[in-house]
Amino acid sequence: MSVSPSASAPAPAPTTASAPPTQAELLDFVRRTAADAELIASLPLDPEGRTWVRLEGPGGSEAWLIGWPPGTGTGWHDHAESVGAFVTAAGELKEYSLAARLPADGWKTLELTDGVDRERRLPAGKGRAFGRHHVHEVLNESTDEHAVSVHAYYPPLPQIRRYSRVGQVLRLEQVERPEDWQ
Ligand SMILES: [Fe+2]
Repeated sequence: MSVSPSASAPAPAPTTASAPPTQAELLDFVRRTAADAELIASLPLDPEGRTWVRLEGPGGSEAWLIGWPPGTGTGWHDHAESVGAFVTAAGELKEYSLAARLPADGWKTLELTDGVDRERRLPAGKGRAFGRHHVHEVLNESTDEHAVSVHAYYPPLPQIRRYSRVGQVLRLEQVERPEDWQ
């Protein structure tokens, strides 16, 4: 693709291909991808741990196909400034999230107020989009069934902040770069 418009022609109107993908577009992408049975079936599954395959997301987004053995999960984390979407393609996932905006920096522990916890069951075909600073953990709570999901993030994940949680107290444990997360 040409990077500079012709001097004699007006600059082309921005296209959706050059605009940052929206949450809705990311959700549409993960839904369409999750419906690709051949792709979903191509993900290697490992009973000992999660498996990942990197996908080409729309508009320069970062996308992943992830396999979740029974009982595995992410732990509490957020995705900093990235927005994203994910959908369960097989099995069922559970998302626990916080309906609260956390301070970005300058804290180590934070006591949550009552009523900020949300949870949603995501059986195959169900997903969600999320905005910046979304805090959640995602689990496969099944005792016997693998789950597979498709995720997309934009901008590509700059960092993931990981938290431990005891009761209502959240503690920032580490900040991971994407290369640590794989
Ligand atoms: Fe996440």
